[in-house]
Amino acid sequence: MYEWLSAKFRKVRIQRDGARWFASETARISLSGGSSLETKQAVSRFLEELSKEHANVAVIYLSRSDRLNPAERKRCAHITVFDWSFRKSAAVNKVRKNFEKSLSLAGMAGLDFDATGESDWDSIWLMDNFLMTLAETPPPPPPNPDDPRPAQITIGQTSAGANLSIELPELCKHMAVLGETGSGKSTFVANMLKRANSVELRYLVFDWHGEYPQLLKSNQALVVAPDQDLGFDIFDYPKGVDPFVHIDVLMDIFNDSFDLTVSQQFILRTALRKVYTDRGHGMSDNPRPIDVDDVIKAVTDIRTYSGWEQESKLAVLRRISKLADTGLSRILNASQKIGFSDLLNQDVIVDLGQVTDSYSKIFVVESILKLLYDYKVSRKLTVPHAIAVEEARNIIPYRRPEEPPRIMERIVEELRKFGESMIIVNQLPSTLSQEVLTAVGNVAAFRLKGSAEQEILERRCNIAREVSKSLADAPVGSGLFRRGDNNIVWFES
Ligand SMILES: Nc1ncnc2c1ncn2[C@@H]1O[C@H](COP(=O)(O)OP(=O)(O)OP(=O)(O)O)[C@@H](O)[C@H]1O
Ligand SMILES: [Mg+2]
Repeated sequence: MYEWLSAKFRKVRIQRDGARWFASETARISLSGGSSLETKQAVSRFLEELSKEHANVAVIYLSRSDRLNPAERKRCAHITVFDWSFRKSAAVNKVRKNFEKSLSLAGMAGLDFDATGESDWDSIWLMDNFLMTLAETPPPPPPNPDDPRPAQITIGQTSAGANLSIELPELCKHMAVLGETGSGKSTFVANMLKRANSVELRYLVFDWHGEYPQLLKSNQALVVAPDQDLGFDIFDYPKGVDPFVHIDVLMDIFNDSFDLTVSQQFILRTALRKVYTDRGHGMSDNPRPIDVDDVIKAVTDIRTYSGWEQESKLAVLRRISKLADTGLSRILNASQKIGFSDLLNQDVIVDLGQVTDSYSKIFVVESILKLLYDYKVSRKLTVPHAIAVEEARNIIPYRRPEEPPRIMERIVEELRKFGESMIIVNQLPSTLSQEVLTAVGNVAAFRLKGSAEQEILERRCNIAREVSKSLADAPVGSGLFRRGDNNIVWFES
């Protein structure tokens, strides 16, 4: 509902629409003085001038006859200045600024503008709700990776003192950022992401330890965290998708993050089907939303007929109740939800520092990656976008060659085809999926000791032992950068 912000006589109306704040301010223009032609000309002069200011503005004319005195027709117009933002204060400020301009332009155009008068609130309410649907700004045009002179960003200095620059097509490949604790990985990634904005590349960071809101402070990225009441709805699915297909997707994620046995999978799938059916999904045009607690309750309510069934049920409960206990449920059940189109058009940090259990952290990262992948595939979107994953061994861990690839390995590989450039941040190369490490385009390696790790750099990243041995005593923020064409330079971030 409306929230009023008054400054003396001025009122900016605020409404929340999911993760967005919609702000508007309305004034009445009296159209009673002057001839109707003069008024029309004044209004068009005013609108013409206003359009040069790039303000979102709408005007509605009201012409009402007075029943008791039909000769005296009341004519007036309402002008509404509107805008939206993910931040309440930004939406209010934009509207205030543009409204101020409107007032002075209206005066110059000769309109009788009443910013404080009584207004027709029904019309304004209707107009705001209509404008909210128009206020979604279109996404910026995607950078063209085939541009003959592609944009580039500087990511450090070479030992010769030159800028180490990386061009957009190169930046749009996956990158591994390796190095021991404290060697400068996160600082390097944050600086790179800040600069990525200058080439219109938006980012999503999975921040394992909650460091990035500080590192990327100047960028004003959106922060998703348990205390921000901003989250994702993993139980929602695009219109037209069969909810039971979405249950399969959820099962993949639960399975991968919680290592469920076959009987545990059976229990969880039965519970999910019951929740979706009970809430009208697949049957009604207006199904009710689902949250983590609904799923936990559905598992609790499942009747079991044997000892092993009961055991499986308790094991599922033990695992999924972590989602409710660890701060994660406040991300999954937040009242403001970010949709995937917002996610691709904004810089977003998912701050997992306050989520206390690492299974739950893995669950969040895997759900968002999997659902983002499905979103991009279903819409055939290839907009370039960057995703940084800290402590990446949790998502794409080392696996023995004889074991089958995990879902996340496949998704990381597939995401590249849909414009996602993943920045895989990890301390040791040995704890990562070797297949993913071999396939990355760029490698930034900071301080790294031990011949076993250096041997992996040689085998998987084409950085010869002769070269990588210098990493053993690299100062903080210095290391080797290997490009996709195997060109290797020593650099400082
Ligand atoms: N290029 C640099 N010059 C000077 N100081 C730096 C540089 N890069 C990082 N630092 C400092 O070094 C410290 C560790 O950096 P950072 O947190 O980026 O390391 P990390 O490799 O991400 O560590 P961890 O593996 O523990 O997350 C920080 O205090 C940071 O400010
Ligand atoms: Mg770090």
